[in-house]
Amino acid sequence: MTLSKTTSRGGKAVEVRGLAKHYGETKALDGVDLDVTQGTVLGVLGPNGAGKTTLVRILSTLVKPDAGTARVAGYDVLSQPRQLRRVIGLTGQYASVDEKLSGRENLYMIGRLLDLSRKDARARADEMLERFSLTEAARRPAMNYSGGMRRRLDLAASMVGHPSVLYLDEPTTGLDPRTRNEVWEEVQRMVADGATVLLTTQYMEEAEQLANELTVIDRGRVIAEGRIDELKAKVGGRTLQIRPVDRAELPRMVAALDQAGLDGIAGATADEAEGLVNVPIVSDEQLTAVVGLLGARDFSIAGISTHLPSLDEVFLALTGQKTADANEFEEVGA
Ligand SMILES: Nc1ncnc2c1ncn2[C@@H]1O[C@H](COP(=O)(O)OP(=O)(O)OP(=O)(O)O)[C@@H](O)[C@H]1O
Ligand SMILES: [Mg+2]
Repeated sequence: MTLSKTTSRGGKAVEVRGLAKHYGETKALDGVDLDVTQGTVLGVLGPNGAGKTTLVRILSTLVKPDAGTARVAGYDVLSQPRQLRRVIGLTGQYASVDEKLSGRENLYMIGRLLDLSRKDARARADEMLERFSLTEAARRPAMNYSGGMRRRLDLAASMVGHPSVLYLDEPTTGLDPRTRNEVWEEVQRMVADGATVLLTTQYMEEAEQLANELTVIDRGRVIAEGRIDELKAKVGGRTLQIRPVDRAELPRMVAALDQAGLDGIAGATADEAEGLVNVPIVSDEQLTAVVGLLGARDFSIAGISTHLPSLDEVFLALTGQKTADANEFEEVGA
C-alpha cells in the first residue's frame, strides 16, 4: 500500500483526543487533547509524574491507551502501528544506545534494522556522526562517551530513519548548561530541516528556547495551552529593565519614577548587582511614559529591555506548585 498519509504543511502532524491511561489507581493520562502542527515544536511541560513519558510511549505505539485516540502523520496508534513507527523518531528519557558498541556501530545497526543496505547504513551512520559532531569519537564504545556525547548519539540514532515526527522525552535532563546548549542547537537544526517535534521537558527555559506552542500537563490533565507568550501574558505583565550609564544613578532613578506618579506605574526597584532598575508594566503606553520621563529628567541610559515572566513563574501561577516538588504538592484552596 503506497497511500501517502503525510499531512500537508500547516496540517496536524500529531492529533490526540481524550487520551487516557490508568495504572491501577494512578491516572497517568486522564483525558488529554493536543495537536502538533506540521513543522513546529510543541513543548509538553509538566513536573515529575505528570504523564509526559506515558504520552510519548502511546504516541510511539509502545503502550496502548485505555481510551481516546491518537494519530501521527495521519496514522492511528492502535490500528496502524507499523506505518506509524516508520515515520517517527524517539529519543527516550532513558538512553537507548548499546553501551558496548561504538557510536558508528550503533547507528549502523539502527540503519540495518530500518532495512537500509549495508552500504546505505554505513553512509547514513557517517552522515549522522558528522552532523552530530561525533566523527572523532565514532569508533569508541558508547560507554566511554560523556553525557553530552551520549545525548547527541541518542538524537543521531532517532534521526537515522529520516523521521518526519520526532519525540524528544526530556532530552537535556541531567546535562550541564554547555551540553544542553549543544543539544538545543541540534534540535533547532532538525526543525529548520522540516521535522515536527514533540518535546517533553521540566525546564521552562528549554520550552522557551525550542517550542512554538506549549501544553502544560499536571497529573494526567492539560492545565494550560497556547503560545509561550500567550501563556506568559495570562500570568502577568512585563518587566521593563533600564540600565543607567552610571550605576550610582540607580536610587535617583527609582525615586524619580516613584515621585512622577505616572499612570499605573508603581514599585520600581533597583537591582544593584545587575545595575538595573526594574519597572513592572502592563502596556506599551506605560513603557513610553517611563522612557519619556527618564529622558526629560536627563538620565543617561545605556540600555532598555522588556522581559516577560519566566516560565517557572508561569508554572507556579498555573498549578500553584513549584516545578521541583510536584510529588509533595497537595491541592491548595481548591
Ligand atoms: N508502567 C507503569 N506502571 C505503573 N505506573 C506507571 C507506569 N508508567 C507510569 N506510571 C505512573 O504514571 C504516572 C505518570 O508517569 P510518567 O512516567 O508518564 O510521568 P512523567 O511526566 O514522564 O514523569 P518524569 O518527569 O518523572 O519522567 C506516574 O505516577 C507513574 O508512576
Ligand atoms: Mg518521563
